[in-house]
Amino acid sequence: MAEEERSFRAPKGTNDVLPPDSHRWQSTMRLAMDVFGRSGYEPVETPTFEHTEVFERGVGATSEVVGKQMYTFVDRGGRSLTLRPEGTAPVVRAVLEHSLQRGALPLKLAYAGPMFRQERPQKGRYRQFWQVGIEALGSDSPVVDAEVIEVGMRFLGEAGVTPELLLNSIGHPDDSCRGGYLDVLRSFLRERTDDMAEDDRERVDTNPLRTFDSKERATVAVMKEAPVITDHLCSDCAAHFGEVRTLLDGIGVTYVLEPRLVRGLDYYTRTTFEFLAGGLGSQNAVGGGGRYDGLAESLGGEPLPGIGFALGVDRILLASEDEGAASSGVDVYVVAVGEGAAGEAFRLVTDLRRAGLGADLDLAARSMKGQMKQASSSGARWAAILGEKELASGTVTLKDLETSDQRELPRDEVVGAVLA
Ligand code: HAM
Repeated sequence: MAEEERSFRAPKGTNDVLPPDSHRWQSTMRLAMDVFGRSGYEPVETPTFEHTEVFERGVGATSEVVGKQMYTFVDRGGRSLTLRPEGTAPVVRAVLEHSLQRGALPLKLAYAGPMFRQERPQKGRYRQFWQVGIEALGSDSPVVDAEVIEVGMRFLGEAGVTPELLLNSIGHPDDSCRGGYLDVLRSFLRERTDDMAEDDRERVDTNPLRTFDSKERATVAVMKEAPVITDHLCSDCAAHFGEVRTLLDGIGVTYVLEPRLVRGLDYYTRTTFEFLAGGLGSQNAVGGGGRYDGLAESLGGEPLPGIGFALGVDRILLASEDEGAASSGVDVYVVAVGEGAAGEAFRLVTDLRRAGLGADLDLAARSMKGQMKQASSSGARWAAILGEKELASGTVTLKDLETSDQRELPRDEVVGAVLA
């Protein structure tokens, strides 16, 4: 292609978030941080890239995310860095680095930001996507599990999504619990390898739990008969899971027990869950999470139990019923035509903004009709009109764009009238 003909496109699998959709997008992120904050989760920001090892050791080398999807690069100083594919390992890294675990526990933290995974793009699956999430660190109480799940359900409800909650416990890694179960599962799968899809066979030895995630019909049929983790939990993990369920029952949060739910990241222990929503096709998980009681140790820290979730903002917006809810932030649109109108309009818009109101004005010398059209598409409740008559008499006509009522006021009463 000739140089002058070249036009640029955003990289495959990324999205530009543009008005008007950007309003809904931003208000969803704000709502998340607001709901999380009201439950005691404080905001944290971590870098968008980390040393690659944080994910290799934190998320786990056998996970697809680490094995196949990371954007890893060597910087000019020869360091291997990775654009974060998820937020949990970075948050735990930051907590350990700054010794926050020495303060009051549990630490309750919330975040919102872009994540990066080199997946095959499709509806609801992108290479840069946005997550909002919370992490509670330093307690293994089942009350924390129930709280985290309830916060996720409540936020999704407020964001206009009615999710189905899938709940499971995958125990802890020792032989007395998940380790023992994996032996049982492996023996079962070895007997049935010939019945499984070819692509899934190698997982039997490397990561047998992931065979539950297979979409291949032959494998799915085998997995229906496979032993499930919840029949093999140690007594502590079984009791813990029982308490989580009782607490959720007690606050009326409904869930579906799904003993075949396996999460894609290696750090999980005990309670795991996913939030599913309709209308998303095959990418129907709007979020997921669980406990990761061993993650801090994998990152070189002391034992620090934790639980959290992350929700995909892109998928929430696809799934939410609340299509029109976002407002532009403009309360008053100033419409002005005639001699000296531009200067007067600018003064009025500045007065309105200084009073804390959202205000905008025409900057393209449109006709009165054109400006009124702009006023209604701006989402403003009011049009403040400065026509020849108003300019001559020092007044403004304030029009309520919802009811079409209008009245003429002295210029210095406009701010008060809008605020009233
Ligand atoms: P995850 O299940 O990998 O968990 O991702 C959580 C959510 O992020 C998914 O349910 C989905 O909504 C969204 N998501 C993931 N990948 C993509 C993608 N390629 N495009 C669009 N959306 C996507 C985690 O990331 C864990 N850190 C959750 C967690 C927090 N567990 C404990 N604490």
